[in-house]
Amino acid sequence: KPPAARKGSMTDVPKELMDRIDHYREIFTVSPEQMREISDHFAAELAKGLSKEGGNVPMNPGWVLDFPTGKETGDYLAIDLGGTNLRVVLVKLGGNRDFDSTQSKYALPDNIRTASADELWNFIADCLKKFVDEEFPHGVEDGKLLPLGFTFSYPATQHAINVGILQRWTKGFDIANVEGHDVVPMLQAAIEKRSIPIKIVAVINDTTGTLVASAYADPEARMGLIFGTGCNGAYYDVCGDIPKLEGCLPDDVSPETPMAINCEYGSFDNEHKVLPRTNIDVQIDAESPRPGQQAFEKMISGYYLGEVLRLALVEVCEMGLIFENQNLEKLRLPFYLDASYPSRVEQDPFENLSDTEDLFKNELGISTTEPERKLIRAVSEMIGTRAARLAVCGIAGICKKRGYTTAHCAADGSVYEKYPGFKERAAKGLRDIFQWETAEDPIVIVAAEDGSGAGAAIIAALTEKRLAVGKS
Ligand code: GLC
Repeated sequence: KPPAARKGSMTDVPKELMDRIDHYREIFTVSPEQMREISDHFAAELAKGLSKEGGNVPMNPGWVLDFPTGKETGDYLAIDLGGTNLRVVLVKLGGNRDFDSTQSKYALPDNIRTASADELWNFIADCLKKFVDEEFPHGVEDGKLLPLGFTFSYPATQHAINVGILQRWTKGFDIANVEGHDVVPMLQAAIEKRSIPIKIVAVINDTTGTLVASAYADPEARMGLIFGTGCNGAYYDVCGDIPKLEGCLPDDVSPETPMAINCEYGSFDNEHKVLPRTNIDVQIDAESPRPGQQAFEKMISGYYLGEVLRLALVEVCEMGLIFENQNLEKLRLPFYLDASYPSRVEQDPFENLSDTEDLFKNELGISTTEPERKLIRAVSEMIGTRAARLAVCGIAGICKKRGYTTAHCAADGSVYEKYPGFKERAAKGLRDIFQWETAEDPIVIVAAEDGSGAGAAIIAALTEKRLAVGKS
């Protein structure tokens, strides 16, 4: 449900705060014209990323060369290294567009984002061992290796489905000696050290998994999108439209053969040509572990939304307009506010914003006045709205690239699932771009199927089928 319309009036907000609110409205608003320009540029950048010369958006081929039929069957393991958890899933594909899954979540150890590579692989392998011991108390069938789909949600170069060379860490991860290396042998070695009967058969981006899981369940699904800690999308292109793969494709591939592409479009507009970048976006980029990268993602995804709010508030503090005589120690810590802050503020149902008052008092030690809270609320709404409107420029870009006039766009991720109003704002954003006059929107965002569980399993199944056909 969209956040309830605010009944409270702004009449008690002093002029200098109203001026600030107007200023942020001005810099954070993305007009329909801007959205059309951004999505046109998006489509061009997607094509450029597929060209021989390449472009700024990586457009990583995912080596899924088939659409799922819905008839895939078998038992597969899948893991998903997310922002806060490692999820291990045992998926049983039913063969009738259905599946069953059993899963466990393991909290990532503190500071894993900046730990050593060994710590990361050992942690994952330990979790796999626990999971397999629990799910297969009598052991796995003699000599059998459980096929594992590894959802690795970072940009990786894939020369084949079971290879994933990390291009660079994103979303605040910064572990040495992984960039530039294939993650499969590293994890496989940690698995073998523990004698766990598992073989990694596929490396999968979360968006590719989402695309394939959703296409398995819904033949109208045209893309898999993640609006979570990061922001990215995958879709099926055709091999004939991927000049950079000329000479690298298997013999049985025709120009019409589908190829799942993990766009890695979080890096869209790293050259700052079209996005309406603000001084706050410039600052977030500068303080992030990887300045100059993921320009689009930094304006949209959950990892950054709280930081946008924090920097705006710090800016207003510096002007001496809010939080007088308050202890600003916590507010001044980079990334201290996560996306739950603007999210809770937007959900505050009280006219005097008393939930926001509690949040700032309890979590930050700041006592707020009602006009201050109205500013916090207004700025949060702008940040959430901007994120949703920019996010759909990527969807529109894919539709324009592929010529889709109708599509189900399967989305997942914490921002899509939990951020108040995101779904409605995104749908409105698509209408602003395409200006449909039909009663029903022809391009709609729908809730995705479980990409990193079912998706990874289906991809592993498609891969096995492909290999089996190749051998016969
Ligand atoms: C980041 C990653 C990308 C992933 C996205 C969503 O953009 O680089 O691989 O798909 O986050 O998790």
